Amino acid sequence: MKRVDDFRLRFGERELVPIMIGGMGVDISTAGLALEAARLGGIGHISDAMLPTVTDRRYKTKFVKEKQKQYKLNVHKADKSIVQFDLAQVAEATRLHVGKTMEAKRGDGMIFVNCMEKLTMNAPRETLCTRLRVALDAGIDGITLAAGLHLGSFALMEDHPRFRDARLGIIVSSLRALQLFLRKNARLNRLPDFIVVEGPLAGGHLGFGMDWAKYDLRTIFLEIRQFLQAEHLDIPLIPAGGIFTGSDAVDFLESGAAAVQVATRFTVAAECGIPEKVQQEYFRASEADIEVNMLSPTGYPMRMLKNCPAIGSGIRPNCEAFGYLLDGNGKCAYIDAYNREVAAHPDAKKISVKDKTCLCTHMRNYDCWTCGHYTYRLKDTTHRNADGTYQALSAEHIFRDYQFSTDNKVALPPQN
Ligand SMILES: Cc1cc2nc3c(=O)[nH]c(=O)nc-3n(C[C@H](O)[C@H](O)[C@H](O)COP(=O)(O)O)c2cc1C
Repeated sequence: MKRVDDFRLRFGERELVPIMIGGMGVDISTAGLALEAARLGGIGHISDAMLPTVTDRRYKTKFVKEKQKQYKLNVHKADKSIVQFDLAQVAEATRLHVGKTMEAKRGDGMIFVNCMEKLTMNAPRETLCTRLRVALDAGIDGITLAAGLHLGSFALMEDHPRFRDARLGIIVSSLRALQLFLRKNARLNRLPDFIVVEGPLAGGHLGFGMDWAKYDLRTIFLEIRQFLQAEHLDIPLIPAGGIFTGSDAVDFLESGAAAVQVATRFTVAAECGIPEKVQQEYFRASEADIEVNMLSPTGYPMRMLKNCPAIGSGIRPNCEAFGYLLDGNGKCAYIDAYNREVAAHPDAKKISVKDKTCLCTHMRNYDCWTCGHYTYRLKDTTHRNADGTYQALSAEHIFRDYQFSTDNKVALPPQN
């Protein structure tokens, strides 16, 4: 019976354990988590979502305060178009986060950054360009283009000295999205180094509509594999979404996957950014406690725990401090929903917004509990303490369980 460890992911001369921990913003896939994956010979991701906020917390910068101060007079205005990111600050935050993480890297693995196109930051092209190029400057091993079609993202890096040696890949949820990406980038004469095929059971935003349940990862994966074979394109394919055990991973590796991308199992790792108290909510969740909804202002469906504080919250938009989802015209679907509720309840002290959520504030505060479909199985991956809480796991334990387990088994950690 094969184990994940019987396979290797090959990038040129490099051989890696074929386990990639997926990017989880905002600082859920922390540098600490990514560093563990790299130390153990796999690939870890940091995320570049809301980095000025993340570096304020981790490295004591003051980016959020400065931006808030600069745009203070706009706080009560519905029009947020003047609220712009200072590109030098975005660059500095990226340089700090990526640079410090890469400096701390040990072992034979790699660290990539997850870069979401939907983080439009009121200047989609300029902010994305800064994030991508500075991540390369700061020594990141690779970039995973996420949450968007990224039709122009390679072109933003094409004259960067590392454009051809850094590992650049894309996440797609359909063959059509991949074909569009390849067609659009054909003139650059540079194929992606890997393709993550993300199915509908993943956490975070989904690349499907609300009919996500009609799709399944294996079918999309096989369709894309067949297309690549027919086109004689030898690009490592990395399925993601619902791969919960080492045996699930082996099934894909035996079907031609170069590696697997996993995330949900690591949401309850000690190195993960989710606070311990919230991790207990992930452990406790049953299948009925998880939903896919349209609350994200990005317009993509998102999976989350139904009891999270983000749902129904009517918090005032704080774009002057954050504003990561403002489109190129300073608009965000949450601002519209919030203003509609304020107009409908002019005397209310507190309002509730049911159809959208303020993702910036809630993700920053770990109040939007996005999760993968199999979150309800996390309780089976550890011990229950005498007080009813669940024992935290180390990233190393989870990683090695994926690497060495067989028979669909999940090894429990040594009991505390
Ligand atoms: C809590 C959480 C947050 C996530 N955030 C992001 C993100 O910011 N960007 C992204 O591309 N994918 C995100 N994902 C998706 C993962 O990177 C990964 O592809 C997917 O969840 C793998 O499926 P699994 O969770 O069933 O193992 C997130 C997943 C989870 C569980």
